[in-house]
Amino acid sequence: MTGALAPTLKLRRGARIPLLGLGTWPLDDAQTAAAVITAVDAGYRLFDTAENYRNERGVGEGIRRSGIERGEVFLTTKFNKEWHSRDGAKRAFEKSARRLGVDYIDLLLLHWPNPEQDRYVDAVAGLADLFADGRLRAIGTSNFKAHHLQRLIDAGLVPDLNQIQLDPRHARSEVRAVHRQHGIVTESWSPLGQGSGLLESGPIAGLAAKYGRAPAQIVLRWHVQQGLVAIPKSATPERIHQNISIFDFELDDDDMAQLRGLDAGEDGVADSDRFGH
Ligand code: A2P
Repeated sequence: MTGALAPTLKLRRGARIPLLGLGTWPLDDAQTAAAVITAVDAGYRLFDTAENYRNERGVGEGIRRSGIERGEVFLTTKFNKEWHSRDGAKRAFEKSARRLGVDYIDLLLLHWPNPEQDRYVDAVAGLADLFADGRLRAIGTSNFKAHHLQRLIDAGLVPDLNQIQLDPRHARSEVRAVHRQHGIVTESWSPLGQGSGLLESGPIAGLAAKYGRAPAQIVLRWHVQQGLVAIPKSATPERIHQNISIFDFELDDDDMAQLRGLDAGEDGVADSDRFGH
């Protein structure tokens, strides 16, 4: 039986993105296709991949084998620094679209800013061209800090969305303030804190017991309740179902305040001024 769909958010260029989707790193093509098929059945309509994950073909295959219509799903992929130019963004699009087996992509992201190259503004201009040509429904960035976004804003190239590492221990308030100011949607990668012990921590366990939910459901509810798009990765059918079954309960103000206390600032966040590919 098909699960209930996640609510959607409207992006600044008009597309609607589901609040909850499937992350796919580090699954290979075969594992990705299997996870996508399970996820479509569970109600997922948002799928996140990247050139760098080497599993775009698996996403495309999973979508086709699931039998769902192309227009019913929202596909996100990302490209590497070698494509950081206006024309390079177009070539990156062509390659990803071919691997996915689609003729348009819902959301294409620069995977990292790679400021040492200083070409991300040009690459986003290339995304804007692709949007104007109808090849993309939305344009975006990943791992951009406030000062990277400011360069885009100054150039009149405000992205629809910025995908960043974000979980209750890394709440990322500085960059989210810039997002809020400019109508940029925040998407959380590693929303479950990826093996950091977050799911086993006291406050999460306490709320899981209070609501009779799994720890991962408490954390994902924390994301979506703030309007953060979350893309938890799982290859386990039971967890794939569990992670989207969060739209039938609500954390209260005290719960949210308790979770705010877990924020450790930028400690443990990958530094995109130093790292990128
Ligand atoms: P698995 O793929 O074996 O289910 P993130 O998306 O934050 O990077 O987290 C991904 C990690 O969290 C993976 O190791 C994944 O393992 C695990 N995970 C995903 N969903 C759940 C869940 N509902 N409960 C516990 N662990 C989960």
